[in-house]
Amino acid sequence: MKITVVGAGAVGASCAEYIAIKDFASEVVLIDIKEGFAEGKAMDLMQTASLNGFDTKITGVTNDYSKTADSDVAVITSGIPRKPGMTREELISTNAGIVKSVSENLIKHSPNVILIVVSNPMDTMTYLAHKATGLSKQRIIGMGGALDSARFKYRLAEALECPASDVDGMVIGGHSDTGMIPLTRLATRNSVPVSKFLSQDKLDYVKEETKVGGATLTKLLGTSAWYAPGAAVSAMVQAIACDTKKMFPCSCLLEGEYGMSDISIGAPAIIGRNGIEKVVEIELDDAEKANMSESAEAVRKMNNVLGEMNLI
Ligand code: 2OP
Repeated sequence: MKITVVGAGAVGASCAEYIAIKDFASEVVLIDIKEGFAEGKAMDLMQTASLNGFDTKITGVTNDYSKTADSDVAVITSGIPRKPGMTREELISTNAGIVKSVSENLIKHSPNVILIVVSNPMDTMTYLAHKATGLSKQRIIGMGGALDSARFKYRLAEALECPASDVDGMVIGGHSDTGMIPLTRLATRNSVPVSKFLSQDKLDYVKEETKVGGATLTKLLGTSAWYAPGAAVSAMVQAIACDTKKMFPCSCLLEGEYGMSDISIGAPAIIGRNGIEKVVEIELDDAEKANMSESAEAVRKMNNVLGEMNLI
């Protein structure tokens, strides 16, 4: 199993590290445009192999996509991260052109690749990758919901004063500070609805903290987070590589599901060797449906910017 990670920055390098440590791939190619940067990160990571006990081969390359040839999965983290006070949407003017050319380069050398898009604004970058490559909708997945759900579980565990392993919960909708939808109604603590333990006020607090989870970290770190994003995307890569059929909320190109078409937005999906095996339609209540259509409206607005930029 050959995995390419485009962008050797913090998120890309963390993703490569987690993939290596999980040791399910034979090879990870880390590629970046900055001379020597990916080579250095790959060498540094390979020097942990005897310490962390993995056999995965990580190689770094500067801007030579021929070295990514025949990748089974490619993760796109390239572009700039946000700074404190910025929204993900503000990155579109810089990142859209980068994601388009990266997608085109990847597909040229790996026609059967499955793409996982991380670059922001992620739902729109995922949509752009569809338009730029013409890959089937199963083979392009946006990573946002897996990360947002991990942050949701972190906040729920904090409120419940229990281990995160005791909590389950999912975030759907757009991967944005205002558009994501933490499904508190369906969240559970070891199969018991969390509403049995937490007041509505507390649940609302958890929901709001989840939505700004990325911005909270950007304020603290001065740049976007990387450990949890890297872990989230490596978990999705593993689901593909090992054909686990795990269900993740991720940005999927919808064709009628949730009453929407021609949009990539966070929805639950079964992930396996073919990428998105199935988009799962769950029953939403009226408030959740309203949130979903509001969220979709904001994503479509960003998608229209791609047209103004003549990228689609
Ligand atoms: C985040 O929320 C990078 O969008 C990613 O941290």
